[in-house]
Amino acid sequence: MNAMSLHLTHRPRRLRRTEAIRSFVRETRLTPDRLIYPMFVCEGEGIRREVGSMPGVYQLSVDEAVKETAAAKSDGVPGVLLFGLPASKDDAGSKASDSQAPVQSAVRAIKREVKDAVVFTDVCLCEYTSHGHCGLMHGSDILNDATVAELVKAALSHAEAGADFVAPSDMMDGRVGAIRTALDAAGHDQVGLMAYSAKYCSAFYGPFRDAADSAPQFGDRRSHQMDPANVEEALREVALDLAEGADIVMVKPALTYLDVISRVKREFNRPTAAYHVSGEYAMLKAAARNGWLDEERAMLETLTSIARAGADLIITYYAREAARAL
Ligand code: PBG
Repeated sequence: MNAMSLHLTHRPRRLRRTEAIRSFVRETRLTPDRLIYPMFVCEGEGIRREVGSMPGVYQLSVDEAVKETAAAKSDGVPGVLLFGLPASKDDAGSKASDSQAPVQSAVRAIKREVKDAVVFTDVCLCEYTSHGHCGLMHGSDILNDATVAELVKAALSHAEAGADFVAPSDMMDGRVGAIRTALDAAGHDQVGLMAYSAKYCSAFYGPFRDAADSAPQFGDRRSHQMDPANVEEALREVALDLAEGADIVMVKPALTYLDVISRVKREFNRPTAAYHVSGEYAMLKAAARNGWLDEERAMLETLTSIARAGADLIITYYAREAARAL
């Protein structure tokens, strides 16, 4: 025995000696099969327009969205989440339920051309309204129940096109139950519901609003998205959505709400998704581009932390890059 040796019963470093040993005791495994890749679908053909604040993310026409889904699939990413960029917007967001609009067309094309791709569609009015709000307005108020009726129409049009899951992101009260009831009544009992249940009013959606041209023209989203200070309220939102028939519940954003993900998973133990949002992606891209971070390590550490917190599914613009790195 070396004179310098301590008599230690526990030496945690014994389990960190080699990669094989570290791997034996690894508690969280990030795998591509839990990733969902968000995409922005626009009108036209052959269009791939990069989003300024989101390097590597593009507005894609339907034909390009099909190619991108196929590429994601071959990287090992099983699912995509579609957002629509309509050619025109109006007060009522009427293009949201137009069967010929980009999302509905992309769903049909992807389901036809990319075998086994799981297609999720975002259901909200903000990409479709001229004022950029998530619902129908009366003065500066968003009308809850009238908006829910429009969301139901949009969700039905996505189901009709062949979506596997619809994902309401609007945060209106009662929309999950209304959509579930309408889907069932129309014979879409196999179409699932992934609810943006605890969606916070976050500064990290900034780049998304550039990508979707959906920033509110006046006011903000505080009357429906959650206050960043609250977690008990998130649990109540999740409980409501589960009671109304949500198959998967979501916390959004991810990194600044890891505690919320953890509580939701522990308290309900139901399929839980986390959305690593545009601003979280943009931060890493910006630092990496400046040479301030090792992008691959930072990306994998970030996504691993979201999984470790309790997320089963992770929605991330890094899905393809992460899948390739894994
Ligand atoms: C609303 C919606 C938003 C995001 C997803 N769905 C934007 C918002 O609430 O303003 C943000 C996603 C992201 O930032 O990556 N339809």
